[in-house]
Amino acid sequence: MITLSKANRLSAKSSIIFLVEKPEGLEKTLFNKEELNYIEKEFRKKKTQVVINRFSKIVLVQFPGKKVEAFMMKENLRKDASKAVKAVNGFGAEKIVFSSKLDKKELTLAFIEGMMLAGYQFLKYFGDKKKKENSLKEIVVHDRSVSGEDILELENIVKGVVLARNLINEPLSFLTANQLAEEIKSAGKEAGFKVEVFEKKRIESLKMGGLLAVNRGSMDPPTFSVLEYKPKNARNKKPYVLVGKGIVFDTGGLSLKPTAGSMDAMKSDMSGAAAVAGAVYSIAKNKLPVYVIGLVPATDNRPGQNAYAPQDVIKMYDGTTVEVLNTDAEGRMILADALGYAKQYKPELTIDLATLTGAAAVAVGRNATVAMGTASKKVFSDLTKSGENVYERLVIFPSWEEYGEQLKSSVADLKNIGGREAGAITAGKFLEHFTDYPWIHLDIAGPAYIDSDDAYRTKGGTGVGVRLLYDFLKKA
Ligand code: BES
Ligand code: ZN
Ligand code: ZN
Repeated sequence: MITLSKANRLSAKSSIIFLVEKPEGLEKTLFNKEELNYIEKEFRKKKTQVVINRFSKIVLVQFPGKKVEAFMMKENLRKDASKAVKAVNGFGAEKIVFSSKLDKKELTLAFIEGMMLAGYQFLKYFGDKKKKENSLKEIVVHDRSVSGEDILELENIVKGVVLARNLINEPLSFLTANQLAEEIKSAGKEAGFKVEVFEKKRIESLKMGGLLAVNRGSMDPPTFSVLEYKPKNARNKKPYVLVGKGIVFDTGGLSLKPTAGSMDAMKSDMSGAAAVAGAVYSIAKNKLPVYVIGLVPATDNRPGQNAYAPQDVIKMYDGTTVEVLNTDAEGRMILADALGYAKQYKPELTIDLATLTGAAAVAVGRNATVAMGTASKKVFSDLTKSGENVYERLVIFPSWEEYGEQLKSSVADLKNIGGREAGAITAGKFLEHFTDYPWIHLDIAGPAYIDSDDAYRTKGGTGVGVRLLYDFLKKA
């Protein structure tokens, strides 16, 4: 990760990025006449970024661009920041000074955030990492409005996103359910939250039938991780419970995914778990005064010899019986047990995150998360605002009763698929059955994993959900 530090003085020697309202705000002494003319000309053409290559160093001037809503201004800056990082890496600089002249520190921080997130790389499996590494390693922030604490907070948020991205990008050959639990444990040690991992025996004695059913086709045991961050100064008595789908690989099981291509991204089927781990990490690292519980049921979904089969009837943790009609609808099976387990906490609010349905990804694509649930209008509106603020936007789908009718089974309390229509919603309705508290379901199947870079969202795991949950719980 790019390191951040603060400096009180501008060194004229290093490469530099200026963030200014307009050209007049620049220190004239740091530029020659031609450069200033060029910058002004570009500014008048409405360019937001001007790059000056001085051979020994790169100088980049960034303008906030046209006045739009505050959250859009921030997002435009994050995106421009990713371009700036590309330019710096293209030039080969290791260190840059970043000097902001803006009085709105949110904008300055958004630009730094964009640079940090754009600098992410997953190089673990390359033989020659050095050759692949970006040149930019260090950003020195020279700014009056941004404090040392602001920088630390931002750094800890980005670390949470990096944790999530790394977990998602790890293939099953490394990240089994056990390994996921180990990674969560070490994140807990580093950030200061408790982690208890239930192993198979405990999961059996708890009768988590959904998690055990999905695990039956696997060679590797399941895990159920309980994360707890409970600071003394917590504002809330009842915890916020975060539940993350931890399918470390989804083959579909016996209802095998139909084409080889449809499995190409399925190491990412634990992106919900990664978001929960990343968010709790950032919250604990920054010591937010909020009591949070994380629940992560984890297994791979495989068609092994003893795999659960279509038409099986499974008794879930809460006693509900489920007729399995498609073993590829496994996420809801493991989440149902976690949501049932959450009841004992009498949560203030439970949010689950899951790459739950292809239908959600088809409906809203990579730029939005499908949200639905039983929480109040106010909670939905606060989460939606956080979504805009961090640019992980939500589309709210209905939770109308009628959709639940598609889940009626002729042999059990529920069946695990709803049919051709409204697949994302019926999946959500299935989950709702296991809740008795205010609840929001986030289907992140679209934005969790992308097959090409998208500005500061790097190819592969995006870490969607981490910044959203952090922003929401900071304000909760
Ligand atoms: N993990 C998948 C959903 C998914 C698909 C996530 C594509 C990301 C990209 C999930 O377990 C699944 O297979 N869902 C099925 C449900 C169906 C059988 C009711 C789906 O969406 O096809
Ligand atoms: Zn599946
Ligand atoms: Zn899945």
